[in-house]
Amino acid sequence: TTPFVIAVDGPAASGKGTLSRRLATQYGLRHLDTGLSYRAVAHALLSADLSLEDEAQAVEAAREVDFAGLDPLVLSTHEVGEAASRVSVHPAVRRVLVEKQRDFARVAPGAVLDGRDIGTVVCPDADVKLYVTASPQVRAGRRHREILRLGGQAEYGAILADIERRDARDMGRADSPLRPAADSHLLDTSGMSIEAAFLAACAIVDEAL
Ligand code: C5P
Repeated sequence: TTPFVIAVDGPAASGKGTLSRRLATQYGLRHLDTGLSYRAVAHALLSADLSLEDEAQAVEAAREVDFAGLDPLVLSTHEVGEAASRVSVHPAVRRVLVEKQRDFARVAPGAVLDGRDIGTVVCPDADVKLYVTASPQVRAGRRHREILRLGGQAEYGAILADIERRDARDMGRADSPLRPAADSHLLDTSGMSIEAAFLAACAIVDEAL
């Protein structure tokens, strides 16, 4: 049987990660957070004190990325996320990581991949494509509450500015910019709970089964 693939794209803090994990559990699929692979490259460069603009070194780091060995805790920091969005503009880095992501999607019984270019570039033939979004204000509010809940400190205005800058960089780059695939289902979660978003996504997936 051919693997069943669900592509989930959307901007930073849209809730696509949580949604993707739940979909994977629900449908018995494997899950890959492709943002972590760009974060791993950024983290390798930062740790070695190398420039994020150094495409050759970034490609080396991309070749070393092993999905099984990625540590979400180490890679989840704001600094690494910012750096990831800067290394992700290098086309040669994208080529290496996209190939690995496609290999992951090819394994039975299939997978949920989340990122920025899954429906448009990585898995253009995915069985289901979701584009998950919410207004920048809603996304900043969610991230702000999450940081406070974990006992951290943050300022709403600074988070909003970060999100808007990241959106501009991810949507404005030349190679594989963030945009909905023509055949994607738009899921605007601005006024939705996580549960409501999950149920709406399941209804879309069930149509394609
Ligand atoms: O989703 P996350 O915040 O972990 O992604 C970090 C950065 O990696 C994004 O801002 C984006 O620039 C890049 N990325 C990408 N393509 C993907 C996933 C992430 O360019 N498929």
